[in-house]
Amino acid sequence: MKALVLSGGSGTRLRPFSYSMPKQLIPVANKPVLEHVLESIRDLGVTDIGIIVGDRASDIGRVLGDGTRFGARITYIRQDEPLGLAHCVRLARSFLGEDDFVMYLGDNMLPEGIEEIAADFHKHGPAAQVVVRKVSDPRAFGVAELGPDGSVVRLVEKPERPASDLALVGVYFFTPAIHEAVDAIEPSARGELEITDAIQWLVTQGADVRAGEYAGYWKDTGRAEDVLECNRWLLARLAPRIAGDVDATSEIVGPVVVEAGARVVRSRIVGPAIIGAHTVVEDSHIGPDSAVGEHCLLRATRLADSIVMAGATITQVPGLAGSLIGRAATVGPSAHVDAHHRLVVGDHTRVEVAA
Ligand code: DAU
Repeated sequence: MKALVLSGGSGTRLRPFSYSMPKQLIPVANKPVLEHVLESIRDLGVTDIGIIVGDRASDIGRVLGDGTRFGARITYIRQDEPLGLAHCVRLARSFLGEDDFVMYLGDNMLPEGIEEIAADFHKHGPAAQVVVRKVSDPRAFGVAELGPDGSVVRLVEKPERPASDLALVGVYFFTPAIHEAVDAIEPSARGELEITDAIQWLVTQGADVRAGEYAGYWKDTGRAEDVLECNRWLLARLAPRIAGDVDATSEIVGPVVVEAGARVVRSRIVGPAIIGAHTVVEDSHIGPDSAVGEHCLLRATRLADSIVMAGATITQVPGLAGSLIGRAATVGPSAHVDAHHRLVVGDHTRVEVAA
């Protein structure tokens, strides 16, 4: 069995981050989403992994390399334009050969693992196996209608009026039968070759398509709110570890990770929280639910429920919460005495100031 990870696409819902980095590299609990994905695949024992990459190919290659770090062999497959999930399967035809494969969307997080779904697929041997989960508003997802035996009756991509509350999770198990299906379909109204349509094509042909309901935690990290929620979920399961320096006047409360080379000075860190390697926290109050990346500087700041990416500097900000701060960003007081708020923010940035 092989794996195909989809890590192209445009990530418009995660602007401004997706202007400067592929959305699949956004850190959640200080680890890029894609690394969480590769670990989930590794836990299946699958080592031959194809990764679809778009114009951010080099960023992804720099982080994942040839896969050795994950005990895997990675083959990068270039997609020039995000023409849809089924288009990715077409592009990967020669990599996949006649093997069964798991297709994993590179922005989906299933940190509790997918071993049970894989076992179900191997046990029943259907042509394709999708994963579904009940959600309160399925309109942003593919939606499945199932028969009483768990077989798939109908799949619709992002329907206005969903026929069920079962969303398609971004993990699919396929046999080579999917190749004929992805070749048979036409682009959807939004101009994409939808994997949902390809699986529906299999259903219409009478193929055995099964659905397994996933009971574990699942998050499509497509929006900033989702990234923060997922960050909270992972941090809540953090194994505490203090490898950096915490001075005697600082206080650590609850599960906290302070990575090697980090320094915590005259500060209070309330877990769950991670302070990344070589980050300096001074005269600050950090946490709970905060992940601070490497080489950051946080001085005289109060921060909760946030992700601060590598190299950011935050000084004298007394109340930051629910925030995503990008790499090497600077947040701090104005140098101009008479200034109110002074902002230099990128396109599609969202700034919410306390009234
Ligand atoms: O998250 C689950 C949902 O994922 C499913 O419920 C939907 O049925 C499925 O179509 C998909 O919907 P999204 O709109 O969330 O897909 P998105 O455009 O975010 O793409 C998912 C991943 O695939 C993401 O990592 C980007 C990558 N991708 C996407 C496209 C369109 C590619 O690599 N190439 C592409 O052409």
